[in-house]
Amino acid sequence: MFEFMATPMAVPSTARSNVSARDTRVESAAGASRSSKTTFSAATESRQRLYPSIGNPHYLVLAKRRQIFAEWIGQIAGDNLRVLDVGGRVQPYRPLLGIRVAQYVALDPVATEMVDLVGAGEQIPVESDLFDVVFCTQVLQLVDDPAVVIDEIYRVLRPGGSFLLSVPSSSPRFADSDGWRFLPPALRTLLRTFSHVIIMPEGGTISGFFRTINSYLYIFARRPLLTKALGFTLFPALNIAGLMLDRFSNGNDSYAVNYSVLAIK
Ligand SMILES: C[S@@+](CC[C@H](N)C(=O)[O-])C[C@H]1O[C@@H](n2cnc3c(N)ncnc32)[C@H](O)[C@@H]1O
Repeated sequence: MFEFMATPMAVPSTARSNVSARDTRVESAAGASRSSKTTFSAATESRQRLYPSIGNPHYLVLAKRRQIFAEWIGQIAGDNLRVLDVGGRVQPYRPLLGIRVAQYVALDPVATEMVDLVGAGEQIPVESDLFDVVFCTQVLQLVDDPAVVIDEIYRVLRPGGSFLLSVPSSSPRFADSDGWRFLPPALRTLLRTFSHVIIMPEGGTISGFFRTINSYLYIFARRPLLTKALGFTLFPALNIAGLMLDRFSNGNDSYAVNYSVLAIK
């Protein structure tokens, strides 16, 4: 397991099996059963973000993001990919790379069995031009200065490497540190050093409307039992309505609630 280092370090070039690396960490942890439980819940959370159920209040953006990311990842050339996940405590999009990963490094300020480097995206403790792919999904709204994180990601990405980003443009504040929302012009400014940038809304304006109602309900439900009940009733109904009616957005994304971005260095 990598430790946070104040000075840049080179991530060892030897390809390692992520499964065996993670197993080793779990086995060597002091409280084995607690560690396994933590890893299990992070893995479950990761799966639910990649394959959300129709009763998930965030289904509309999560399902769309999977579709967009799967297509972009399919266009990335090569095997033996070196991948960095900034804010990688949960790694929903890792399975989309399949067996093409030589090394997967998760950086997060919160240390768990899933995290390889404990640290922040503002100061990534690795050498420059190292990674083929960098993920940073639903993290940028939480950092102090998104431009600093983007510049660090640019630095550690190899020339021609792919940066997959997802950011909220409109959503309730889900955490105390939740300080930013992002729209396409600002994303283009933040990513101006990249040679090629594609910005895709995770659903159009109509999908955004239904996801917003779900977010409100989720916030006001408060009690777990009520949230659970909504997961069998209103959440799926609103998700299905959003799915079916979004075609009438006709490409209008003025109220898209989340964006996926592919930026090539
Ligand atoms: C909403 S979760 C997103 C997790 C995952 N990337 C996903 O898409 O599901 C945000 C993550 O970003 C991490 N985070 C917060 N501030 C960060 C920072 N400055 N640098 C890197 N990660 C950060 C949090 O600890 C958390 O794991």
